[in-house]
Amino acid sequence: MCGIVGYYGPKDPKEVIVNGLRALEYRGYDSAGVAILHQGEFKRVRAEGKLVHLEERLKEEVFDGHLGIGHTRWATHGLPIERNAHPHCVDGVSIVHNGIIENYAELRESLRAQAVNFQSDTDSELVAHLIAQQIKVGKNLLSAVLEVLPQLEGAYSILAVSKDQPNEMVAFKYGPPLIVGLASDATLVASDIQAIVPHTREVIFLEDQEVAHICGSQVQILDSRGEERSRTPVHIDWTQERAEKQGYPHFMLKEIFEQPRAVAQALAPHLDLENHRVKLKVELEESFLQSLERVFIVGCGTSFYAAMAGEYMIEGLARIPVEVEIASEFRYRNPILPANSLVVVISQSGETADTLAALRLVKEQGVRALSICNVPNSSIDREAQAHLYMNAGVEIGVASTKAFVSTLALLNLLAISLAKAKSGGELKAEPDLVQGLLSLPSHMETVLVHEKFFAEAAQTLKSFRGFLYMGRGINYPIALEGALKLKELAYMHAEGYAAGEMKHGPLALIDSEMAIIMLAPKDGLYEKTLSNLEEAKARGGQIISIGSGDDERLRQLSQHYLALPQTHWMMMPLLEVIPLQLLAYHVAESLGHDVDQPRNLAKSVTVE
Ligand code: G6P
Repeated sequence: MCGIVGYYGPKDPKEVIVNGLRALEYRGYDSAGVAILHQGEFKRVRAEGKLVHLEERLKEEVFDGHLGIGHTRWATHGLPIERNAHPHCVDGVSIVHNGIIENYAELRESLRAQAVNFQSDTDSELVAHLIAQQIKVGKNLLSAVLEVLPQLEGAYSILAVSKDQPNEMVAFKYGPPLIVGLASDATLVASDIQAIVPHTREVIFLEDQEVAHICGSQVQILDSRGEERSRTPVHIDWTQERAEKQGYPHFMLKEIFEQPRAVAQALAPHLDLENHRVKLKVELEESFLQSLERVFIVGCGTSFYAAMAGEYMIEGLARIPVEVEIASEFRYRNPILPANSLVVVISQSGETADTLAALRLVKEQGVRALSICNVPNSSIDREAQAHLYMNAGVEIGVASTKAFVSTLALLNLLAISLAKAKSGGELKAEPDLVQGLLSLPSHMETVLVHEKFFAEAAQTLKSFRGFLYMGRGINYPIALEGALKLKELAYMHAEGYAAGEMKHGPLALIDSEMAIIMLAPKDGLYEKTLSNLEEAKARGGQIISIGSGDDERLRQLSQHYLALPQTHWMMMPLLEVIPLQLLAYHVAESLGHDVDQPRNLAKSVTVE
């Protein structure tokens, strides 16, 4: 989603802002722009499409000022064209905005009635007009913002500057994140810590309805009525992993190959290696876990499919009822959350608007919430009462990969811990399960070898009319995730199905132009899955099956059989998903798509 970067300081603002926007590129966007002070005015440069187009336009531009703002836009109101790109500049005021102004139509009408002319189709431009009107009647930038704030409804983070106050920025938010970075001689504002860490580790995370008034290197935090609030900057212990592909053609492929390490890092803090035990480092007391009667797991996209797999693990091993729900549904259906429940919210970015809203709702009802995030200090991480970390390292590819397997590893640990708590601290299978978890990274390495197959098969695969991904039990959410990956990256029709449902519809789709991807490891549902495979084969479907160990029956039934190492059923998903990611990656790549930033998608969805 949109990215914001603002800079006041001695360096060339153009360099700092463009580098900052580059660090945010992974979030997904469709146009970009900057407004930087030059000879007392904000000079604005914008371009459609990727950042390189903006950089091309900025090549010859010089700026003599020390204040500037920049933005990467993911279109909501208005087409992704230059006219709608940010910053929006009105009478010496420039603003950049992430999010949505929900009372846009009303505000636009009232401005139109005052004979205001609009230069864009965006909701964001309205904010620039509203601030500029206040400045026209004698307010300074800060008081103008405080005047405008109560008029805005929706979810937003906004950074505003005015040519009349050439060393000031005013940032305010309700929803999407905004972070103020305090360097010794400079101040930054950004929507993502990645744009700040090259300059400073001292930051303030703005809370909703707070306003940051930056005046040179002084920062004052106010509430929405203008009352000063005391905030101490926090030091970020964030080793900035440079966004480098390290020889891989795409971040996504690099991240797929980083998965064994991601899983090892997710597990490491929670394993007692000497005794082969799980010691979950989390702020949930044993007595709470023992009395737990219900678990809810909430997330969006890939995180939701991880949640679904978690349901099979926790119910299967700990025998605690689990409800799994998409965050955007959960938050609006007035869910019944009994006491003695735990709600697990899963979010790689920790910023997904619907997941954050679900977390807030849970807290309002007095129920405990545990977050599983990859980004420390993200909004969800900060607001949850208990925390587990994916530790997957920075994930740049918009389509999530390594965060997914890290989450699955953590859900294994959670299921084991809950099962132990329920059985009075002893779980006979624990040492074997721990051994299984410890073997995962090396098993995953062996699965990565299938890359070659998909690199070659992509040419044939891309000519299929559609893809049907199927599995049963815990393999079913992985089928859904495989189909999602193909949709996201290759823009091809793909469906994930519970194999047992095949007769209730999808069977009608199967012919020789339909590829069937069947997940059939040797687990309790193996025989049933094989029957489904027979049915698909009888209708002429082209079958790629993914199973465990040497499996002659699967080999006979399939055009291609990929053998995975045999492991515990709760851990199979971490292996199964790898070929599905590789399939989607190579088909998309052979179609010439932008694998790291698929069209219309964003890494972090900060609006609902
Ligand atoms: C976007 C991303 C997906 C991700 C989903 C949830 O749609 O493109 O890759 O799975 O958001 O994101 P989260 O950060 O909450 O896990």
